[in-house]
Amino acid sequence: MRGRFITLEGGEGVGKSTQIAYARSLLEALGQRVVATREPGGTPLAEAIRALLKGETGEGMDADTELLLVFAARNEHLAKVIRPALQRGDWVLCDRFTDATYAYQGLGRGLPANRIEALEHWVQGDLRPDMTLLLDAPVELGFARVAKRGEAFDRFEREARNFFERVRAAYRERAGEFPERFRVIDAARPQADVSRDVRDALLGLLPAASSRSDAEDADA
Ligand code: TMP
Repeated sequence: MRGRFITLEGGEGVGKSTQIAYARSLLEALGQRVVATREPGGTPLAEAIRALLKGETGEGMDADTELLLVFAARNEHLAKVIRPALQRGDWVLCDRFTDATYAYQGLGRGLPANRIEALEHWVQGDLRPDMTLLLDAPVELGFARVAKRGEAFDRFEREARNFFERVRAAYRERAGEFPERFRVIDAARPQADVSRDVRDALLGLLPAASSRSDAEDADA
């Protein structure tokens, strides 16, 4: 059986990395094989594209160039990591995927959705995540967390506040459009509460044999 493909989405500083690490240890404790990865990135070439996107050349970028680079990285990631893992029956936990493109390049940068759709069909064919966990929190809360990390802001993080309001609105709009795939999780709450919702969402996808008490042991 093909593995489960789970994506985590949300704005900056909503806690995706923490929840991916939590989800990974939960699933592994339940005997599942897990590949945890991220976009843009996940292969050496795609990580090099990530560095370009994040602005390591110090140069600006046309929005369509940005879109094409995102999908070039995604194509490589799908070919080398995601599709092989799903074919082996592994779970794939991916920190961001194409919903981020609709949010950042679509509503954020203002690129028309039909350009994104065309690339999505080209690069992914019919492949879509089985479940997308949207960690939703007010923009200012995420930024306070990013600032706390004490690292320099990348090319995206330097965008104005209203860019991130559009990104957040785009994510929520997509969650409304695909309610069967999305689980919207309030990420403004303490981490443990967010993890509980992540756990409940994932357990719903596990075969009945993996019992809830196993999961609670793993969680303890
Ligand atoms: P992050 O995952 O560390 O937050 O950094 C990835 C950055 O790349 C983030 O600012 C969002 C951006 N991004 C896009 O603009 N489009 C995409 O399709 C993806 C996957 C990420």
